[in-house]
Amino acid sequence: MKYFNNKLKIENISVNTLAKRYGTPSYCYSYNQLKYNINTFKKNFNSFSPLICFAVKSNTNLNLIKEIKKFGLGADVVSMGELMLALKAGINPKKIVFSGIGKTSEEIEFAISKKILLINVESRSEIKEIERIAKIRNKKVNIGIRLNPNTDAKTLRQISTGKKENKFGVNDKIFCDLVNYCKKSKNIILKCLSAHIGSQILDHKPYEKMLKVIDRIIKKTNFSFEFIDLGGGMGISYTGNKKLNYKKYCLAIDKFLKKHKSKIIFEPGRSIIGNTGFLITKIIYIKKSGKKNFVILDAAMNDLMRPALYGAHHNMLPSEKRNKKFVKNYEFVGPICESTDRFSSFKKFQELREKELIIICDVGAYGMSLSSNYNIRPKAIELLIKNSKVKIIKKRQKLKELI
Ligand code: LLP
Repeated sequence: MKYFNNKLKIENISVNTLAKRYGTPSYCYSYNQLKYNINTFKKNFNSFSPLICFAVKSNTNLNLIKEIKKFGLGADVVSMGELMLALKAGINPKKIVFSGIGKTSEEIEFAISKKILLINVESRSEIKEIERIAKIRNKKVNIGIRLNPNTDAKTLRQISTGKKENKFGVNDKIFCDLVNYCKKSKNIILKCLSAHIGSQILDHKPYEKMLKVIDRIIKKTNFSFEFIDLGGGMGISYTGNKKLNYKKYCLAIDKFLKKHKSKIIFEPGRSIIGNTGFLITKIIYIKKSGKKNFVILDAAMNDLMRPALYGAHHNMLPSEKRNKKFVKNYEFVGPICESTDRFSSFKKFQELREKELIIICDVGAYGMSLSSNYNIRPKAIELLIKNSKVKIIKKRQKLKELI
């Protein structure tokens, strides 16, 4: 995405053209960026060629998952719906891992029937439930056990998962007990140790710490795991500042693999899809209130929840650049009757006019997938730009579908 003659273009197509043709708000993804992200991710870890399972929760668009599949990626799913979607996209079940703390019996039965690579379990009760179902069906089921490594991911509190007070995984003592339990089971085959300490991680040190904890626990259990699933969580640069040091993360894994001969699995979501997506919105009104200038957009928290939910920042750009002399402070908000329905504030933004377009950046991950119909607002259209062509990859919802 770049400005050409002061007009913003995604790949070769101007944002103004997209808005005219498809309306606003609309999600638009760049195929070139997706391709770049996947190839870079693979390159970053090519010393051990991991199995990369795309975290479907970050973006559930079937067409995008089909594109991702073409690069050989598998899927990390957390519900029956996501599993069905991954299968529909053509992902090989032998490249699918099923995560989550509350899989229902129905979901477990479905996963077993599809012969997926791993069910990553998070409690003793879940192992027993899998065993019960496997016994009835006379099946052997491959599982992983998710360890809670009690490691601070140093990310937003709301998306941190690896500390002992979080609900995810099991502690080291229970982990060892469960390994012993599985060793004796006839219907469960323990294959994997999994961990995921959080999301939007920009510091490699928590990952190094997590690997040390995993190393320690493997020694303690004296069990050889075919797979070590390190989850996802690799952060992206929403502000243009900090970046995760992949080299150091990779070196730490290389070191780990000298001691343990396992295949590494990753479950990245955001780092694959986050910066491929843009939300094109139109300014409805601009209003002044005290010292503030509110820019009221036609996109709202139902379209993009991250700012309301986590106080997350997304960069915003005008579709046309003008003289930099005229700047104002602006607070970008949506039209919903909630004070948290606000995006970002800027002290110096070019002076704006009503009906102009604003682009919200880096919304490919947890943008559309977290959207809702709050206020009976139809979900936005999704577009993919590939080879200079625009493809509708999901139609705009119609009000009559909702009413
Ligand atoms: N694996 C597991 C077990 C997960 O729980 C998650 C994300 C991932 C992989 C993918 O993480 P990623 O690579 O995308 O960071 N809605 C929040 C993020 C929640 C993440 C939930 N779990 C946000 O918008 O920031």
